[in-house]
Amino acid sequence: MTSHQPERDIDSSLHEDRVFEPPAAASVGSAPWHVGSLTEYEAEHERSVKDPAGYWGMVARRLRWMGPYERVLEGQFPDARWFTGGRLNACDNCVDRFVDEGYGDETAIVWEGEPELSGGGSGAPEVRRLTYKDLQEQTARLGNALKKLGAKKGDVVTIYMGMVPELVIAMLACARIGCPHSVIFGGFSSQAIADRVVDANSRIILTCDGAWRRGKVVPLKDNVDKAIEMMGGQSPVEHVLCFGRCHNDIAWGSPDRCWQEEMAAASDDCPCEPMDAEDMLFLLYTSGSTGKPKGIVHTTAGYLLYTAHTARLVFNLVPDAGQLYWCTADCGWITGHSYIVYGILQNRVPTLMYEGAPNFPAEDRFWDIVERHKVTHFYTAPTAIRAFMKWGEEHPRGHDLSSLQVLGTVGEPINPAAWMWYREVIGGGSSGKQPCPIVDTYWQTETGGHAITPLPGATPTRPGSCTRPFFGIDAAVVHADGSECEPDKGGLMVIRKPWPGMLRGVYGDRERFIETYFSTVMIDGKPVYTAGDGARRDRDGNFWIMGRIDDVINVSGHRLGTMEVESALVAHEAVVEAAVVGVPHEIKGTGIAAFVTLAKGHAPSESLKRELGEHVAQTIGAIARPDQVRFAEALPKTRSGKIMRRLLRDVAAGVDGQQDTSTLEDFTVLAKLRENDE
Ligand code: WT7
Repeated sequence: MTSHQPERDIDSSLHEDRVFEPPAAASVGSAPWHVGSLTEYEAEHERSVKDPAGYWGMVARRLRWMGPYERVLEGQFPDARWFTGGRLNACDNCVDRFVDEGYGDETAIVWEGEPELSGGGSGAPEVRRLTYKDLQEQTARLGNALKKLGAKKGDVVTIYMGMVPELVIAMLACARIGCPHSVIFGGFSSQAIADRVVDANSRIILTCDGAWRRGKVVPLKDNVDKAIEMMGGQSPVEHVLCFGRCHNDIAWGSPDRCWQEEMAAASDDCPCEPMDAEDMLFLLYTSGSTGKPKGIVHTTAGYLLYTAHTARLVFNLVPDAGQLYWCTADCGWITGHSYIVYGILQNRVPTLMYEGAPNFPAEDRFWDIVERHKVTHFYTAPTAIRAFMKWGEEHPRGHDLSSLQVLGTVGEPINPAAWMWYREVIGGGSSGKQPCPIVDTYWQTETGGHAITPLPGATPTRPGSCTRPFFGIDAAVVHADGSECEPDKGGLMVIRKPWPGMLRGVYGDRERFIETYFSTVMIDGKPVYTAGDGARRDRDGNFWIMGRIDDVINVSGHRLGTMEVESALVAHEAVVEAAVVGVPHEIKGTGIAAFVTLAKGHAPSESLKRELGEHVAQTIGAIARPDQVRFAEALPKTRSGKIMRRLLRDVAAGVDGQQDTSTLEDFTVLAKLRENDE
């Protein structure tokens, strides 16, 4: 581990002393708070951490089981197992149980497409509503279609689709027949698809012809075709099932099957497969500190329970209370898995999905959606809030947002200015009404669900702090030797006890699993979970996340490994060596700065900068495109040969990449001055 400075300037948060008490229930809608006071939270948290088995055993009664479990918790880090011996099915818990309970005709998903039906800016958007019965029928048909293609229980199915209801149907259909899914974000490149498909040895890919994004078609099926070509003889892919969404031209080869045709031909009788509590529910690839993304493994019972319980308490979800919940993430990220699909559907509160961009056809699209659908719960990323601020208050002000009850953020630290804007402008604070509480939820792909977060009716909030650990989370800020840091002193974010939503492994790489999460900090000779973030805890017990302490940067709330970007750069013929660092960015939180040295015969130029940027976008995906590309004769290194990243961060942060026309950097003098720093 390196001794990085946190990515973001935490100065403002260090001096943040505004406190906002949770509002009384009556002022924010009809549903009472599940947890209504700090005292109640504190008592319950203490109990949950002292006796995890007792606590989670009580909560587990909310799940629909197909067979009883023997023990709530077995083993310890890194191999804790939850609800061993129990049997259940994730699709059953999200869909079928509600049909059986008589709610089959209620709305489960409200979906809005990006294009307007009649075009020209005046048409109504395309809206679909799917009931629990619809989901039952569609997941059953798709389950049978997958079985016909040879999918067997335990086979990993890859999903590379746009934000259409069929993406959720695909995830749930996999769960229904016991196939773990591996969803790949539709913004990723062919190379990224190829890497993940090979790693998971996945024989079936579910995709779409295209996806709508700002009025243009993202060619998803083409990307899959290219990925299969790239894999060559290594390709495990036998079938590609393609949903027709955009009707763009696509090539049709021997592995290709038409989604709509297969669905029509399939029977709608496909019982939910009884799964073991610890059977893998899904794999989700995320970036780490090496060049290769890792497949995070989540299992069935613990993940379901943890996402359902966090969603219920953190968003205060209540069925039959007129709630409509909207998370603006893509299902390709953990946020979408946990808080568009599994955590929300299990609570029988309708989940809204929007297909496209926030600024299409105009910068008020989100507020138009909130107003038209009467969204009650809104969950987004700080990077989006900063973009809304930049676009101007007139966009939200032009809409009636009074339906909103709870606002959430996720993905990266939120700066106090964005937090206050969210509260005042979106949460209604400046209109004189009681503003919506904000839940700043800190968690990770690995934690499965919220780890540190306010509860809207219980926790006093502070702009920039994710406040308190969720029930069952024994969080602490510690020194490398495991001792707890003094209040207000920075240290490592750890979790000292297993929780049901925790990752169960890195797919196919036991060593990396142990090394990354359970080798940094020991307490009483036993490993604790290290999150990879720096944090501090204030005197009132609130956590403040200071940013990644590994070689991971958080760009617009998306995790990227600096080494991934470096590997992409050195794969270009013009590049000999590359170093990538995070740089503060007004909207993205952290932007990407790439320093490269060039091969003989290649000269620095603006067009080469663009080419290298494009090359990275092609290799990984557009989110990885560097904000700055800078040429250097040599990269500054310490005597032992380590790249001086802190120096590069300073250089990158101290200049405006747009205006910089100088192409050659001479680091030698600076490097000498800083040599002892790293
Ligand atoms: C990393 C995890 C969890 C879903 C989205 C990202 C950062 C996440 C917060 C927050 C400060 C946050 C951390 C974490 N992060 N939420 N509320 N405040 N930082 O999931 O891609 O697994 O990234 O995102 O650095 O380690 P992810």
